[in-house]
Amino acid sequence: MVKLLRLANSANPAKQLPALGYGTWQAKAGEVEQGVETALKLGYTHIDAAAIYGNEKEVGEGIRRAGVDREKLWITSKLWNNSQHPDYVHKALDKTINDLGVSYLDLYLMHWPSAFQPGGDMIPKVGGVAVRDTETTLAQTWAEMEKALDQGKVKNIGISNFTKSEVEELLQAAKHKPDVIQLELHPYLQQTAYVEWLQSQGIEVTAYSPFGNQNPIYGGGELLRDDPVIQEIAKIHGKTPNQILLSWGATRNTSVIPKSTNAGRIEENKDIIELSTDDMAKIAKIDKNKRFNDPSTTFGYVFFADEKPAYKSALDAITNAGSKAKQAALKAAGKA
Ligand SMILES: NC(=O)c1ccc[n+]([C@@H]2O[C@H](COP(=O)([O-])OP(=O)(O)OC[C@H]3O[C@@H](n4cnc5c(N)ncnc54)[C@H](OP(=O)(O)O)[C@@H]3O)[C@@H](O)[C@H]2O)c1
Repeated sequence: MVKLLRLANSANPAKQLPALGYGTWQAKAGEVEQGVETALKLGYTHIDAAAIYGNEKEVGEGIRRAGVDREKLWITSKLWNNSQHPDYVHKALDKTINDLGVSYLDLYLMHWPSAFQPGGDMIPKVGGVAVRDTETTLAQTWAEMEKALDQGKVKNIGISNFTKSEVEELLQAAKHKPDVIQLELHPYLQQTAYVEWLQSQGIEVTAYSPFGNQNPIYGGGELLRDDPVIQEIAKIHGKTPNQILLSWGATRNTSVIPKSTNAGRIEENKDIIELSTDDMAKIAKIDKNKRFNDPSTTFGYVFFADEKPAYKSALDAITNAGSKAKQAALKAAGKA
């Protein structure tokens, strides 16, 4: 039985967030329809989608094929960075809602705390680096998210990949506190103090990439699932290492959203248990503060700057200078 997480700040508290969701990043068209259908038929009730994944129509097709009552489902999607400008937020949300074939979302997240130049290009780039919209503030985008909430198009709103400083900045301006934050979280990147602080603010936490570097885009290396501590706990409980990784996230009251398009692994990932205090203490010791998903270089913004203050001031100077040069180049090319 999958836990349900109560959203303390929610404007629609009757529906709770299922602690197990189905991830859809890099789930290819032609596979994801079947993956979503399989997951929903196996009893998953939570789908994690995003406009940038480029597969929301196919995810919607999977939802339609599964034929589960919409009220029983929790559907999350995310506002992409090229639509953070206030004039674009609602267009992006309407497209996502249409592509998924639903009439509302249960949760809409700001995908990253950095706006790109708005327009048709998902990642408008010059010289391999994204062109930022440095005028649009987090507070302006958030105000549009709040409007979508008031309109009932989304039942909850949240953020993703924000640092504590960025959350604090947002809280200064927010009328409605974020309901949920989505972060990279696994035993090699536990962020325990931050997670506990978020939970103390009533902000529910979702763990993405719960298997660490199992996602091939992170370049492989020694896999978290092969860590001897994870292997040992898996043996004790007669579970697979991947099940232990998901159980770790659920035991600390975060939701977990593993991605798989393989029917056997989709089923395997459902089997989540409550770990003991002893298990949790052993896993606490293998934290490496190792982040696998940091697109700062290509997105031209210093993400996770709380972890790298010196780097941030140096990069801010370069990025701001670079932004001006890029804007001038775009203007000259008639694109800005
Ligand atoms: N907010 C954000 O910025 C953000 C960033 C990253 C991810 N996310 C969300 O989080 C979801 C999950 O993260 P992720 O996709 O990065 O990585 P993940 O779920 O940690 O790992 C996915 C990889 O693990 C494999 N896998 C799945 N179950 C397995 C099992 N039981 N045994 C062995 N291998 C298994 C999958 O392959 P197969 O498909 O072949 O099984 C896939 O290669 C994403 O899909 C997305 O929805 C959000």
